[in-house]
Amino acid sequence: MGYVKLVFFTLYTFLCQLVISSSLPHLCPDDQALALLQLKNMFTINPNASDYCLDIITDQVIQSYPRTLLWNKSTDCCSWDGVHCDEMTGQLIELDFSCSQLQGKFHSNSSLFQLFNLKRLDLSYNNFTGSLISPKFGEFSSLTHLDLLNSGFTGLIPTEISHLSKLQVLRIWDVDPYGLRFGPHNFELLLKNLTQLRELDIYSVNISSSIPLNFSSYLTTLWLPFTQLHGVFPERVLHLSNLESLDLSYNPQLTVRFPTIKWNSSASLMELHLSGVNITGTIPESFGHLTSLHELDMGYSNLAGPIPKPLWNLTHIESLLLRDNHLEGPIPQFSRFEKLRELSLRNNNLDGRLEFLSFNSSWSQLLEWLDFSSNSITGPIPSNVSGLQNLQRLDLSSNYLNGTIPSWIFSLPSLYLLYLSNNTFSGKIQEFKSNALSLVYLNQNQLEGPIPNSLLNQPSLRFLLLSHNNISGQIASTICNLKILIALDLASNNLEGTIPQCLFEMNLWNLVLSNNSLSGTINTNFSIGSHLRVISLNRNKLTGKVPRSLINCKYLTLLDLGSNMLNDTFPNWLGDLPDLHILSLRSNKFHGPIKSSGNRNLFAQLQIMDLSSNGFSGNLPESLLGNLQAMKEIDESKRTPQYVSDQYADLYDYLTTITTKGQDYNYVRILDSNMLIDLSKNRFEGRILSIIGDLVGLRTLNLSHNVLEGHIPASLQNLSVLESLDLSSNKISGEIPQQLASLTFLAVLNLSHNHLVGCIPKGKQFDTFENTSYQGNDGLHGLPLSKHCGRDDRVPQVMTPAELDQEEEEEDSPMISWQAVLMGYGCGLVIGLSIIYIMWSTQYPAWFSRMNLKLEHRITTRMKKHKKRY
Ligand SMILES: *[C@@H]1O[C@H](CO)[C@@H](O)[C@H](O)[C@H]1NC(C)=O
Ligand SMILES: *[C@@H]1O[C@H](CO)[C@@H](O)[C@H](O)[C@H]1NC(C)=O
Ligand SMILES: *[C@@H]1O[C@H](CO)[C@@H](O)[C@H](O)[C@H]1NC(C)=O
Ligand SMILES: *[C@@H]1O[C@H](CO)[C@@H](O)[C@H](O)[C@H]1NC(C)=O
Ligand SMILES: *[C@@H]1O[C@H](CO)[C@@H](O)[C@H](O)[C@H]1NC(C)=O
Ligand SMILES: *[C@@H]1O[C@H](CO)[C@@H](O)[C@H](O)[C@H]1NC(C)=O
Ligand SMILES: *[C@@H]1O[C@H](CO)[C@@H](O)[C@H](O)[C@H]1NC(C)=O
Ligand SMILES: *[C@@H]1O[C@H](CO)[C@@H](O)[C@H](O)[C@H]1NC(C)=O
Ligand SMILES: *[C@@H]1O[C@H](CO)[C@@H](O)[C@H](O)[C@H]1NC(C)=O
Ligand SMILES: *[C@@H]1O[C@H](CO)[C@@H](O)[C@H](O)[C@H]1NC(C)=O
Ligand SMILES: *[C@@H]1O[C@H](CO)[C@@H](O)[C@H](O)[C@H]1NC(C)=O
Repeated sequence: MGYVKLVFFTLYTFLCQLVISSSLPHLCPDDQALALLQLKNMFTINPNASDYCLDIITDQVIQSYPRTLLWNKSTDCCSWDGVHCDEMTGQLIELDFSCSQLQGKFHSNSSLFQLFNLKRLDLSYNNFTGSLISPKFGEFSSLTHLDLLNSGFTGLIPTEISHLSKLQVLRIWDVDPYGLRFGPHNFELLLKNLTQLRELDIYSVNISSSIPLNFSSYLTTLWLPFTQLHGVFPERVLHLSNLESLDLSYNPQLTVRFPTIKWNSSASLMELHLSGVNITGTIPESFGHLTSLHELDMGYSNLAGPIPKPLWNLTHIESLLLRDNHLEGPIPQFSRFEKLRELSLRNNNLDGRLEFLSFNSSWSQLLEWLDFSSNSITGPIPSNVSGLQNLQRLDLSSNYLNGTIPSWIFSLPSLYLLYLSNNTFSGKIQEFKSNALSLVYLNQNQLEGPIPNSLLNQPSLRFLLLSHNNISGQIASTICNLKILIALDLASNNLEGTIPQCLFEMNLWNLVLSNNSLSGTINTNFSIGSHLRVISLNRNKLTGKVPRSLINCKYLTLLDLGSNMLNDTFPNWLGDLPDLHILSLRSNKFHGPIKSSGNRNLFAQLQIMDLSSNGFSGNLPESLLGNLQAMKEIDESKRTPQYVSDQYADLYDYLTTITTKGQDYNYVRILDSNMLIDLSKNRFEGRILSIIGDLVGLRTLNLSHNVLEGHIPASLQNLSVLESLDLSSNKISGEIPQQLASLTFLAVLNLSHNHLVGCIPKGKQFDTFENTSYQGNDGLHGLPLSKHCGRDDRVPQVMTPAELDQEEEEEDSPMISWQAVLMGYGCGLVIGLSIIYIMWSTQYPAWFSRMNLKLEHRITTRMKKHKKRY
């Protein structure tokens, strides 16, 4: 009976509702529906327009979808997705366009501005690139929420925004760094007038002012990272009674004077982000009052000395990020923080041991991220550690840790990031008991034994770096189970046996197996659509030929097959790879003449060509050297190589071996400015081609140990950035062209063991070379050789003041280019990938992921720039 009643009741309610709703006219006024439809039609739908759609509160990735697609006249506009009307009046009061895949431009005549009753407007995560924020936004006088996150608006933020005096929430983020800006005093005006403001979130907008003093006292959230704020941080902000979250990160001109700040015991502050601001003085005692604080980020803030005492009072802390400072002393008992989820002290000067890990308390149950990388921590990782069942990321790389990797690490069920590289860990890598691993960096240690099987069965593994250890055995073909592996680096181990052919057919981007004892052929099928960017197999025992299917690797940037036993003729066809920058075939059994080809676009991007120590013969390859478009220009922007300044610099790099300035360098990170041709130790004959003078970007030219004859072409004077020239041990005759004295960058010159005659040029670099540069040429005279040149000596060149200046500048600009830790092409890609990957696969606190967004943005822009050059 009760059941029937219930059914009847439900039916009754339903019918009533039906009657009520159909008896009312459309809630939505016609003009409003029309305005909305006009608005809809202003934009096209493009899924790319809502890339990187994030929920900023939870930091979760949101799936975008085209909300407006189903908007149509046949339905009540108040029922449309993203539209909310006042239930009484039918007036539109909320419009939510977030993540709606809209692309197009906003104009001042947009029908949006007819919807003046709006209380909430969310335009975030669309692509309105190039649109200005119209002054008409100031006419939404009822607006309480305005959300313009990542929507492509640009230019000046109009003063009229300050008219929105009911605004409670204002969010403006710019994807294009500082594409949006405030006019002078407008930010101050905004804060002064928006007295109801509770949340202000402005990111990557050029505010370029000091922080004003007048604030809404309702403010709970104030986020102003990357906004070019300057001046001294006004303490008043900290005494806003409702303030819960403050983020002023990455405003390096903003000074926070710590010692003078009195932190209030009634403060409700829960999040404080002061990364990358100019913090002066030590953290005062009163900081310990902030007992509600659960997120503290003071990275890159020049904190020095021991870990500040007042931090110990922050017993509620969940996230403590003090990375990239100058903190020193032993690692304290972090185990007192029972709620800790995230702890990063990377890149400080902490020493001592990790003993606090073994304190068996409840603290470790919540810990998800532990980062002590790049400190000076010594000793072993304690073996008696329990808990840490939630640990997802463990980074202890670049310390002085030793001993074996304890077994508890291999049992952490949620671990997906494990960085232990650059320590002196020894012993075997144990079998992993979990299968969540995604990034495993154990490179640069003294680990031995085989690659554990469990590592080759990780379904989520993307980056596996085991290079520079003593790992032995074969590479099992089960490695091909790693379906989503992006980078594999097993270089500099004792691996033997053949390379599983399937490795070449996977989805890898970087494959680095150099400096092992791998044998067999690479006679494999690289698949069409291969993603490979980097193939480095140098210093192994590979035989056979260069597989023709390499031509399928359209993205190949680096191919290093050096120091093997490959027996082939020159693979001229590699010249069709559009992106090949680095080709090393050195020290193999390549032979025969290098055939000419009519194609003018071969090897257009090549910047390193190392064919040394082979059996190549015949004349120097004129048509090949005539191609090499990339070497024919000096990119001014590349004169000063760029350092990687971000925290991911040590993630991964590809490395190769080159000879320059008379020395071998192994594991060089290739710069994009480095241009080199090494044809030494072959059997090339005939003349040195004067077209080499067209390759003006060259920094190293080595043609030594061949049987070249004829004169040194005067055209070499055009190689204005040449640093190293080696023509030794040939049969070159004639005089040294005096014009070579103009090569002001030349640091190494070797012309020994030829048949040169006449006078050695004088002036500039030529005054710095020693006898050894010229010995074995009986007919040479002049300085530094003791034989004097006759009176017919050329007049020594006198440097003009301008040239002198230039020389001095040269001394200032470090000659680091060859060895320094710099960004190469492949590296950028991998770093970019890692960041994107880390970003999407974790739930960082909002700020951290925004910083990643920033980095990621920088990298993608770099990559785009890089692409544009082709
Ligand atoms: C955004 O739109 C502009 C044109 O308005 C277009 O050039 C650009 O590629 C779009 N960006 C994305 C990420 O789709
Ligand atoms: C979206 O972006 C991808 C990759 O950049 C591109 O291939 C595709 O054409 C874009 N789609 C549209 C509709 O612009
Ligand atoms: C109109 O909107 C309704 C409700 O959203 C939807 O079911 C219908 O498919 C739409 N019609 C058209 C032609 O898009
Ligand atoms: C709105 O203004 C833009 C440029 O100012 C113009 O191209 C467009 O036609 C105008 N649209 C309407 C509906 O007036
Ligand atoms: C400040 O807000 C008031 C409304 O409270 C408004 O009338 C005035 O124009 C605003 N001033 C500025 C400079 O925007
Ligand atoms: C920010 O704006 C100020 C003043 O308008 C300007 O001097 C500065 O160059 C801008 N900074 C950036 C990074 O755009
Ligand atoms: C940082 O603060 C100190 C002390 O107030 C000041 O001398 C220095 O100029 C500031 N640095 C910057 C970049 O503003
Ligand atoms: C910090 O804690 C210590 C002892 O735990 C206590 O003596 C001190 O008063 C606290 N400081 C503040 C500012 O609360
Ligand atoms: C290895 O670690 C040491 C000590 O922290 C550090 O100085 C060095 O730069 C690191 N090397 C690399 C390649 O990261
Ligand atoms: C680890 O390094 C310490 C010095 O920091 C040394 O005393 C100890 O013997 C080393 N242990 C092992 C196993 O190498
Ligand atoms: C290279 O291979 C050919 C046969 O293909 C053989 O005749 C020759 O001796 C080999 N060269 C070297 C240096 O091993």
